[in-house]
Amino acid sequence: MATNNSQCFWGLFLALSLYFTHSTSTPHVYIVYLGHNYNVHVPHLTSNHHLHLLSKVFASEEDVKKSMLYSYKHSFSGFSAKLNSSQATALAQMEEVISVFRSETMQLHTTRSWDFLGLTLSSSSTSPEGTPLQLAYGDDIIVGVFDTGIWPESDSFQEEPRMRPIPSTWKGGCARGEMFEPEKACNRKLIGARYYLKGFEEEYGPLNKSGNPEYRSARDFLGHGTHTASTAVGSIVKNNASFFGLASGTARGGAPRARLAVYKVCWGKDYDGRCSEADILAAFDDALHDGVHVISASFGSKPPLLPLFISQAAIGSFHAMQLGVSVVFSAGNEGPDPSQVSNVAPWGICVAASSVDRMFPTRIILDNKLFVMGESFITTPIKAKLADATTYFVNGVCRPENWIKSKLAVGRVILCFSSIGPYEIDEAEVAAKKANATGLIFVEAETRQVDIDIIPSVHVKLEQGTKIKHYLAQSPTKPVVQIEATKTVIGKSPAPRVAYFSSRGPSSLAPDILKPDISAPGVNILAAWPPQTSPTLTLDDKRSVSWNFQSGTSMSCPHVCGVVALIKSAHPNWSPAAIRSALITTANTRDTSLDSILADGSTKASDPFDIGAGHIDPIKAMDPGLVYDMKTRDYILFLCNIGYTGDQINKIVLCSPGTDTSCPQVPTSNSHINYPSITVSNLQYTVTIKRSVRNVGKNKNAIYFCTVLEPDAVEVQIWPRVLIFSWFKLENTYYVTLKPHKKSQGRYDFGEIAWSDGFHKVRSPLVVSVNTTCCDSYEYLHHSYNRNLSSF
Ligand SMILES: *[C@@H]1O[C@H](CO)[C@@H](O)[C@H](O)[C@H]1NC(C)=O
Ligand SMILES: *[C@@H]1O[C@H](CO)[C@@H](O)[C@H](O)[C@H]1NC(C)=O
Ligand SMILES: *[C@@H]1O[C@H](CO)[C@@H](O)[C@H](O)[C@H]1NC(C)=O
Ligand SMILES: *[C@@H]1O[C@H](CO)[C@@H](O)[C@H](O)[C@H]1NC(C)=O
Ligand SMILES: *[C@@H]1O[C@H](CO)[C@@H](O)[C@H](O)[C@H]1NC(C)=O
Ligand SMILES: *[C@@H]1O[C@H](CO)[C@@H](O)[C@H](O)[C@H]1NC(C)=O
Repeated sequence: MATNNSQCFWGLFLALSLYFTHSTSTPHVYIVYLGHNYNVHVPHLTSNHHLHLLSKVFASEEDVKKSMLYSYKHSFSGFSAKLNSSQATALAQMEEVISVFRSETMQLHTTRSWDFLGLTLSSSSTSPEGTPLQLAYGDDIIVGVFDTGIWPESDSFQEEPRMRPIPSTWKGGCARGEMFEPEKACNRKLIGARYYLKGFEEEYGPLNKSGNPEYRSARDFLGHGTHTASTAVGSIVKNNASFFGLASGTARGGAPRARLAVYKVCWGKDYDGRCSEADILAAFDDALHDGVHVISASFGSKPPLLPLFISQAAIGSFHAMQLGVSVVFSAGNEGPDPSQVSNVAPWGICVAASSVDRMFPTRIILDNKLFVMGESFITTPIKAKLADATTYFVNGVCRPENWIKSKLAVGRVILCFSSIGPYEIDEAEVAAKKANATGLIFVEAETRQVDIDIIPSVHVKLEQGTKIKHYLAQSPTKPVVQIEATKTVIGKSPAPRVAYFSSRGPSSLAPDILKPDISAPGVNILAAWPPQTSPTLTLDDKRSVSWNFQSGTSMSCPHVCGVVALIKSAHPNWSPAAIRSALITTANTRDTSLDSILADGSTKASDPFDIGAGHIDPIKAMDPGLVYDMKTRDYILFLCNIGYTGDQINKIVLCSPGTDTSCPQVPTSNSHINYPSITVSNLQYTVTIKRSVRNVGKNKNAIYFCTVLEPDAVEVQIWPRVLIFSWFKLENTYYVTLKPHKKSQGRYDFGEIAWSDGFHKVRSPLVVSVNTTCCDSYEYLHHSYNRNLSSF
């Protein structure tokens, strides 16, 4: 199953345990990863060990101290240091070292970035509608948000009148810094605030006030962290949240009474968020020691993805998982092309983004004669002359470089077609702004989500846009266009739909683990914003807002984080895998019209690569019936499959005594680890997969029956088809046999396996790619490749 080539490839890498060193004498920040921490209670011993290792590649003790950025000594063992390539190589060859890699820069997962203009930045968002959950508020849960910091004065982070004291387990604190006084900023709601800057400054130079409007503290400049934190855990702010009247209502996070601890790891650089891996790992090291229960991380890197354990996300979330802490990641905004999903470690939760049932219709009127609807965030009506882009742009292409430099467009509304210009609206906006136009009507075949714009812009569908163009062509003079203020309309269009930008599976790193796991709201989310940062992050935007719209998987990630906090509050003993299972097996695949959820950017129904198991259902996730838990052995098998040896696994995995850490003789495939979704990426022969489920329902005596939806190219057999649970048998095992029954060259087909006791439906997506190019028909139809099941 697992391709042998990739096994060799991995083996080779890990033997060297060094990734990406260019032979260069210029020092860079490297991360040296050593696995779990043997001296949890005496962290200085771990630190001394790190210094000792470093001293082997430096001549003087002084140089050692100068080179070290962080010693990760609480929650796992490793350090970051400035090294040249020969020093990195020397460290990588030491026996205790698992991996050595360059600290890379991660980016925030918001949809827009004006960085090509140096204008503005990235965003985040939260929803005032939040998650409609009345059951629990998560009082006892501490949520760690790794992001751009916090605007502590926002209403979202004020403590409620009768909030209970800070949980006694909390070991974290609030760090003093620029415009951040712990006495004023922190309270029973915001209980932790730390910032990490060494990695960023090594990469980009000192935070420089003259050029970079950042605060040297946990205070948020870019707004992203304030937005995501208020989405996850923002306190209830009654009837006072809106963006200039749009989307007005009560704001609240998913778990409005959970405590918040912020770890500022992303910093503004030309108004864009940059997050250094060395800093992020320091935040993981502290947060896990401080006692957070859930971590929200809305950043990542674009494919090609680095191997697991050569990246902060996988290392940090692995040790979090071992300590019972869930880590929720954004899937990325590289959609809708396939295989772009990031943050794919099987111990994390990876979140896609979808729309909510809220629209912002905007009426366009030409010469009081032609009425056309579009969508926008325009809050002040506009009246101006309308002009076709062909008059002002070379070949009608609305790009800044195609701008014809005359005063002609000043004060006009320009009509641009995405089909004869940029695919994205951003460039057209920049072009129109450069031309000092008053507004923009942007025409797309399939309209994307609207955004907070640098100039008033309406999105219009191709059919409407064509009407406008024809009217314009027939009009002897330039017609007057009126654009009315936008309205907020709720519940009129089916939702959710997967956002076109949301990164799609399959995972390019471990295709037998389905990613993304689940989807959550991530389009036009309204959440808290620093009033001193303009909503577009552009310098000439002088508006100040307390709430702002943002789109991206950055916004869907904290929604799931809030729900995880609620589940954790209701079920404190559930493992991160059990919590993820509850989310996955209860996710919705139907929209508000009870049709299958659409994938935006097309008219096609979504599949598990768009949406994972489906859209999050917080209420059902509190009571999933059965859970697919993962045991230490599952993680060990996964590590074996990606090429780690028993020795290395012993260093990485914290095992209870007697745990079998050896790798099986015959490599297995990741399809066999006890994940709640089932994926076989290269099915050549009949394969049998084992899964175990635990009854977590109120009723301990329960009988579950199975229903199967077969993917096109395979026959699915489940054994047994009935699972009987009792006080004495909380856990049951079943087998899924997948038999390819037609020729296919790696085409993916989708089905599902669902268990029901009449009250709960425990649903697993079934994702199979049959590949019969290897074998003749006799072989693939009749050769039975029965694995020895007892070896799993
Ligand atoms: C790396 O640094 C060490 C210690 O400062 C030095 O001895 C060595 O020559 C350097 N290697 C390269 C390739 O510059
Ligand atoms: C900030 O940067 C500017 C130009 O990039 C430089 O001239 C100035 O000296 C720097 N100031 C500080 C305090 O580092
Ligand atoms: C609403 O918010 C504004 C600005 O944040 C504040 O001045 C006002 O007092 C708030 N109103 C209510 C009713 O809380
Ligand atoms: C647009 O406005 C700016 C600022 O007022 C001005 O400097 C620029 O020349 C104008 N450009 C055009 C094409 O009118
Ligand atoms: C199908 O199997 C063949 C032979 O094992 C292999 O070379 C090829 O990469 C596989 N294709 C896919 C899409 O997995
Ligand atoms: C399966 O493997 C186990 C242990 O490796 C062995 O004892 C058993 O005989 C095997 N069963 C079959 C049917 O091969």
